[in-house]
Amino acid sequence: MRVLLLTVLLLCTVFLVQSQDFQNETYVSKFEPVSSNGKASITTYFSPDTSLKVETDLIVNAKESIDIAIPGMDSWIYCTDSYQGVYGCTVAKQRTETFPIFQALLNAVNGGIKVRIITNNYYTPGANGSCSDGQIDPLSFLALAGAEVKYFTTVTYLHSKYCNVDGGTSSISSINYSQTSFMKNREAGVIVSGNDDLTDFTNQVFEYDWNHGIPWPTITYTPAEMKIITDKTMIDVVIPSPTSFPGSYVTTVTTVNEAMDTTVFTSPDFAWEQVKADIDASSSMLVYIYQITGPSWCDLLGNYSGSLTILVSDVIFDEADYESAVLCYNHLYNNGITIRKTAKNMYTYSHQKYWVLDNKTVYLSTGNWGETDFPDGSSDFPPSDSSDWRKINRDFNIKMVDPKLTAVYTNLFKADYALGFDYHPYK
Ligand SMILES: *[C@@H]1O[C@H](CO)[C@@H](O)[C@H](O)[C@H]1NC(C)=O
Ligand SMILES: *[C@@H]1O[C@H](CO)[C@@H](O)[C@H](O)[C@H]1NC(C)=O
Ligand SMILES: *[C@@H]1O[C@H](CO)[C@@H](O)[C@H](O)[C@H]1NC(C)=O
Ligand SMILES: *[C@@H]1O[C@H](CO)[C@@H](O)[C@H](O)[C@H]1NC(C)=O
Ligand SMILES: *[C@@H]1O[C@H](CO)[C@@H](O)[C@H](O)[C@H]1NC(C)=O
Repeated sequence: MRVLLLTVLLLCTVFLVQSQDFQNETYVSKFEPVSSNGKASITTYFSPDTSLKVETDLIVNAKESIDIAIPGMDSWIYCTDSYQGVYGCTVAKQRTETFPIFQALLNAVNGGIKVRIITNNYYTPGANGSCSDGQIDPLSFLALAGAEVKYFTTVTYLHSKYCNVDGGTSSISSINYSQTSFMKNREAGVIVSGNDDLTDFTNQVFEYDWNHGIPWPTITYTPAEMKIITDKTMIDVVIPSPTSFPGSYVTTVTTVNEAMDTTVFTSPDFAWEQVKADIDASSSMLVYIYQITGPSWCDLLGNYSGSLTILVSDVIFDEADYESAVLCYNHLYNNGITIRKTAKNMYTYSHQKYWVLDNKTVYLSTGNWGETDFPDGSSDFPPSDSSDWRKINRDFNIKMVDPKLTAVYTNLFKADYALGFDYHPYK
């Protein structure tokens, strides 16, 4: 019985696990990091405490435009799951979606706000019999309701978790559009506004990727179904209260609005060089990151001469990533470096990505420490039919030098570190 169930489950989900790679041209790094020492407003927020409200409010308060770059969009009511070989759910059910960002986006579209979403291809509507017979998913629903949706093609995979509202406000975070990311994980994000140098940069990267994207295909629905999809009645945006994790450190939202040194940059464009130079020049580093994989990162840390404090996720979702991380953690362990893992039985994943250099400079990223998010070597990234192909992610990164921000990230680091445990390789 259990074997049968597992087989059915595997058959139904197997074609959804890997996203399709649409890159068909060599991408050459083109976006140099942009720095500012002017005034900027930075708002820090974290899962599971405040991220859902902060990101939903951002969309609710949009006046003109919303641009989103996100790996995927998961339904909170199983409309992005397969059941008995059928992917999606009915149009009527999808309209009752409980993911508040979906609710806010549908209202935005119906309120005349220009909504653009770029994402990976985890599935193609209509392909392989999925989403036929009136079945739908959140992105198809939004696309038919009036949002513009595209597949990402620039490099292998869109890994940014990014939203820009009305041009001048950008959010950059580790947060997937999934219930787990908002409610069950530790995650970290910032909202950047009040500084056009920074938001112009993220807008330019978005426009480039958007212009290279290909349209999300939609399938045909009956007139009765289309009536539900295009119903312009506003729906309630309901933000559930944060999950309580007894004993956890509960963060609050902090906004710092003052002159500070900041740098925004994108991966893969010169990101490794930017990060490595600052790490090499530093003499102490706190790292709070989901995972560390691959030889370059491992060697960089293994050779770090300053004071190094590492906190990584106890659990890693992807099996290949997990195996690669274990190799790295064992290498570091064998060189006398302590690897601290996050508390068991608390968050599902500790998926945030940030590091603090010299008690002064905070880096926050949508990417992990590994070759796909921070590739070293050539700045040419050919498509997958080339023998020089590398699996490469698009990410956003921000560097911030401000004592109030340093305190926010350091305090969280210390609290989560205290709840964690030291890793020992299995003998
Ligand atoms: C890559 O795909 C895009 C969009 O489908 C197309 O316009 C372009 O010509 C393709 N480039 C190559 C080199 O095939
Ligand atoms: C993030 O979202 C992507 C796409 O929805 C998914 O494949 C990936 O596993 C998610 N990562 C985590 C840690 O939840
Ligand atoms: C459809 O199925 C084929 C064969 O199993 C697979 O190669 C392809 O990726 C699937 N397409 C989508 C969009 O899931
Ligand atoms: C130091 O760097 C070298 C060359 O990159 C590498 O071979 C070595 O493994 C690194 N040492 C540690 C302890 O990681
Ligand atoms: C870090 O800097 C803050 C003030 O900027 C200071 O209060 C604190 O003692 C410093 N911590 C360490 C470990 O140097």
